[in-house]
Amino acid sequence: MLFINAKLMIMNKFNYINNKLYCEDISVDEIAGEVGTPFYLYSYNTLLNHYRAFDKAFSQVEHIVCYAYKANSNLSLCRIIANDGCGADVVSLGELRRALDAGVPPGKIVFNGNGKTAGELEAALETGILMFIVDSEPELELLDKIAGKLGKKAPVALRINPAIDPGTHHHLATGLKESKFGFAFDRTLDGYRLAVSLENIEVKGMHMHIGSQILGIKPFVDALEKLVSLLPSLKKLGIGIEYIDVGGGIGITYRDEAPPTLAEYARAVSPLLKKTGCKVIFEPGRVIMGNAGIMVTRVTHVKNTSEKKFVVVDAGMNDLIRPSFYDAYHEIMPVSRKNEKKKVKVDVVGPICESGDYFAGDRMVADVKEGDLLAIFSAGAYGFAMSSNYNMRPRIAEILVKGKSFYTIRKREVYEDMGSNEAVPGWLE
Ligand code: LLP
Repeated sequence: MLFINAKLMIMNKFNYINNKLYCEDISVDEIAGEVGTPFYLYSYNTLLNHYRAFDKAFSQVEHIVCYAYKANSNLSLCRIIANDGCGADVVSLGELRRALDAGVPPGKIVFNGNGKTAGELEAALETGILMFIVDSEPELELLDKIAGKLGKKAPVALRINPAIDPGTHHHLATGLKESKFGFAFDRTLDGYRLAVSLENIEVKGMHMHIGSQILGIKPFVDALEKLVSLLPSLKKLGIGIEYIDVGGGIGITYRDEAPPTLAEYARAVSPLLKKTGCKVIFEPGRVIMGNAGIMVTRVTHVKNTSEKKFVVVDAGMNDLIRPSFYDAYHEIMPVSRKNEKKKVKVDVVGPICESGDYFAGDRMVADVKEGDLLAIFSAGAYGFAMSSNYNMRPRIAEILVKGKSFYTIRKREVYEDMGSNEAVPGWLE
């Protein structure tokens, strides 16, 4: 059952009152009536609670929380946490600009990614970000050249691939030996030797990010221990490390998973981190945003075939791709609960012309009929952010609730938006 994690239940402001789903103090039904479906719906207080809980859990170590913008880069959502002191982990110029627009000071921005272009490196250098998380030797050399041209020193942390299996979906593991990310563990010291030999590079830190939706503590601790074990050798080389960036990756409850609580995570890694005397950077994405948002969709048809019963809804895989892409489980419940005892086995599917367009397969859900509203939970992270216009479908609205009020924080796209960058050659006009 959803929200089995008691701590999350307290923090999440999506609750049933008299069998009607509320987001904070307003019924989801009422919002749907005004904005139409489908839409993403976020709770201001849930988001802020999540950020504050994360920040507080690490009060024992000097740290910066750099929220991973890729999880959800909506301007208003980013600004809510930026106003509360949250930094940013960005991976593109778009995310860098978004973080600045949200009000994040450059000194709280780290730039990740394994394929940063010369243009991106130059723009971020000009901005004066805290650190580049450098992925490879060629990136170091390119950054050095660009920094030299601009007469600047580029602050860097090397991303270290600790070769640890985080036990998550294979698409979400990033620190395996065969992963494309970072410096192979046994080549890290050579990476640092290169970095200090380059005139326009300033070594500031080390970085790891071993994967996402991680449900155990051990992979984090094992990986961190490997990083920390390098410190004496680096010291011998005369290289001081000011920052250890431990990445993101803490899992959340989608169904009945029991991810480590923030307190457990903090208890496991804080002593290790404290001993190093380094400042710490965290890059959480999902744990901040995931359960701060849901997607609301309406049942278009209920269709019976000889094999199955299909609940066809007005949202599709272009709006929320996680079930199709990772076989991810998202809880689905009616916005108005009627007869909870009567559940039927259905596939909840979208209108896209692909068999992979589904939100649930062979799932026991409440018996719903055409016109009913469904809530797809835990959709705040990697939901809207991964949506597209596939099948020429306008991307859906994003709505923010604060107390009794709701605000459109991204308008539903219209047909004209989708064609706005197209051009027709003269001979076709
Ligand atoms: N830092 C780096 C360098 C990352 O690559 C990521 C996520 C994060 C931090 C944040 O990780 P989180 O705390 O959210 O686990 N689209 C997938 C998730 C891909 C995550 C990519 N990197 C999904 O829908 O599950």
